[in-house]
Amino acid sequence: MRVGIATDHGGFGLKEELVTQLRGAGHEVVDFGAHRLSEGDDYPDYVVPLAQAVVAGKVDRGVAICGSGVGASVCANKIQGIRAALIHDHFSAKQGVEDDHMNIICMGGRTVGPAVAWDLVQTFLTAEFSQAERHLRRLDKVASLEARKT
Ligand code: RB5
Repeated sequence: MRVGIATDHGGFGLKEELVTQLRGAGHEVVDFGAHRLSEGDDYPDYVVPLAQAVVAGKVDRGVAICGSGVGASVCANKIQGIRAALIHDHFSAKQGVEDDHMNIICMGGRTVGPAVAWDLVQTFLTAEFSQAERHLRRLDKVASLEARKT
């Protein structure tokens, strides 16, 4: 799978670990940065290009990290077509794709360790959207919000 990944300084170490793990598992990784640890950097500068690449189909799915994962998820969801969520548990990593068609997983570099993060990423990448009628109906309702101003 072609996987995009992005982080600010808050998840830099975790991002580096996940890039190695992903490549080791045979995925093609597009690294949107940060490419060096810089305490003053801002997560939108990395997360927005990742989210745009997901929407454009340049990568299949995305991994967005910041210190808590909150900023990354708030930011990614501002891009039309993105369904991002901050994930801490195995169940949500799977069901978030199966039911909600999550296309970016967000995590906190300061809140999850590398082993848990790798399990969450693998679970996210192997899950598939169910295509169930009730979930398509709900996603249509979510998508219609993007056309509204408020
Ligand atoms: C940066 O210090 C931190 O605020 C950021 O990485 C992230 O946690 C924001 O949600």
